[in-house]
Amino acid sequence: MSEKEVMEVLGAIQHPEFGKSIVELDMVENLKVEGNNIKFNLVFARADAMASSIKEEITQRVAETFPESNLRITELIRAKKVTKKNINDLGNEQLAKVNNIIAVASGKGGVGKSTVTVNLAVALANAGYKVGVVDADIYGPSIPKMTASEGYMPQAQEGSELIVPNEKYGIKWISVGYFVDPAQALIWRGPMACNALKQIILQTVWGELDFLLLDMPPGTGDIHISLVQDIPVSAAIVVTTPQAVALADVEKGINLFRNKDVNKKILGIVENMSWFTPAELPENRYYIFGKGGAQLMAKKYNVPLLGQIPLVQSIRESGDCGAPSALDENISQAVSSFDTALVHETFKELAQAVVAQVEKQ
Ligand SMILES: Nc1ncnc2c1ncn2[C@@H]1O[C@H](COP(=O)(O)OP(=O)(O)O)[C@@H](O)[C@H]1O
Ligand SMILES: [Mg+2]
Repeated sequence: MSEKEVMEVLGAIQHPEFGKSIVELDMVENLKVEGNNIKFNLVFARADAMASSIKEEITQRVAETFPESNLRITELIRAKKVTKKNINDLGNEQLAKVNNIIAVASGKGGVGKSTVTVNLAVALANAGYKVGVVDADIYGPSIPKMTASEGYMPQAQEGSELIVPNEKYGIKWISVGYFVDPAQALIWRGPMACNALKQIILQTVWGELDFLLLDMPPGTGDIHISLVQDIPVSAAIVVTTPQAVALADVEKGINLFRNKDVNKKILGIVENMSWFTPAELPENRYYIFGKGGAQLMAKKYNVPLLGQIPLVQSIRESGDCGAPSALDENISQAVSSFDTALVHETFKELAQAVVAQVEKQ
């Protein structure tokens, strides 16, 4: 009785749902045969209703073929490792009709990356484009809250492993927050989270899209590099605020995408919280975080400044209540006040600038 012989027996056992053998599906791991003892891990990609019938069949077949053997199966549930091969298999299919995958990144958190992503998505959809959004912030997914869809439970498409995204405001959304409690996301850390995330992106039924925006996790580390390499990102937008520290992080962001191993186009910089405009004095601009920084940065790195978003209360309010400022209906039902129309226009112009850059490149 050798490992090869045991593998042959296992190779003949099919997963009833996927119609492939458990060996082909990489479900057999660490097979060891020592004397009469056979042991291996049986790895499931998720809680699997077929688990007990598969185990039963394995036990039966092994006992028939090797009557003397003792079998020990350790059952594991683990998101499948994302390899180049299954990225190609899955990604080519699900992302095949997605025209532009744009990563929205920032060196640090709290600069408004999610706010910009969500409102840019809405503004692009308002302009008639088909849009999807991935909340890839494994450290703090905020898109469920920003779109008031915390309760959304991603469904599997009938008869497949594919995930149906949430559809709201005419946009397809998927968030790591739909799979784990956003408050718990931190413990789901590092490379494992990143792998699970890639798998989610590649297994989502996106259909035809003009734009898929990725709300990236803050920072510019290994996870970010691996994400933009493995997901066929076409270009990037870097979000910053005017403070010197935030701008120093922009350099890191730009360098991430210009790194020779990554080498993605940068569509431009978006400066958020460029100035404060109070509701009572709509004409006034207070440059509380400084002025002109993003402009300088854009010049220095030879990338366009795509837009400047003011710091206004209604952006925060509409983010919190899950009805993004860029929605058309917000103009009539202003969340806070007058400034809604101004903000709406700002995001519309941002969307136009993004489209213009995409067309240029
Ligand atoms: N231009 C803005 N005006 C007012 N509040 C803003 C603005 N941009 C972002 N915010 C608020 O700041 C907080 C952080 O923004 P968020 O988009 O979550 O940042 P990030 O995704 O970079 O961590 C949120 O509460 C958001 O509503
Ligand atoms: Mg965010």
